[in-house]
Amino acid sequence: MFDDGFTNLTCIDFCGPVIKYMAQRNRHRRQMDFLTMDARKLDFPAQSFDMVLDKGTLDSIACSECAAADIFTTLREVHRVLKPGGVYILVTHSDPQTRMPLLVSPALRWRVTYVNIEHGKEEGEREGEGGAGHFFFICQKQAQ
Ligand SMILES: C[S@@+](CC[C@H](N)C(=O)[O-])C[C@H]1O[C@@H](n2cnc3c(N)ncnc32)[C@H](O)[C@@H]1O
Repeated sequence: MFDDGFTNLTCIDFCGPVIKYMAQRNRHRRQMDFLTMDARKLDFPAQSFDMVLDKGTLDSIACSECAAADIFTTLREVHRVLKPGGVYILVTHSDPQTRMPLLVSPALRWRVTYVNIEHGKEEGEREGEGGAGHFFFICQKQAQ
C-alpha cells in the first residue's frame, strides 16, 4: 500500500516482537508507524481513520477463549476509530455464513458487503489461481 502511494499508515499488533521486526523491515518507509497495541482497546481518538485494514487479525481473535466477546469488542473499537463514511476491510478465509453474523449488528452502524476473490480475478487468471477462498468484507460506517 505504501509503495502505491498510501503513505500515511499506522500498523498495530499486540505482539511486541512482531512490531519490532516489521518496523525494522519497513524502516525506509518514513511515514509508516508501527505500534504495539491490542485491537480490543485501541489507543486512538474516535473518528481518526479513513480506513482500517484487517488481514488475519480478527481471524486470530476468533480463536481466543472468549472469542465472541473479543470479536465484538474489537469491532466496536474499529467502528469507533473510523470516520463517518470510513471503511473497515476484513480479509479472511472465512465465508459469509461465518463472518456476516459477526459483522452485522445493531450496535455497529455500518453497511456490510463482501467480494469473493474468485469473482474479482485479474484478467488472464485461470480458475484455481490466485487467492481462491479469500473474502473481502467491506464495512462502511454510516455518515452521521
Ligand atoms: C494471521 S496473523 C496476520 C498478521 C498480518 N496481518 C499479516 O497479514 O501478515 C494474526 C496477527 O494478529 C495478531 N493479533 C491477535 N490478536 C490480536 C489483538 N487482540 N490485538 C492485536 N493483534 C492481535 C497476532 O499477534 C498476529 O500477528
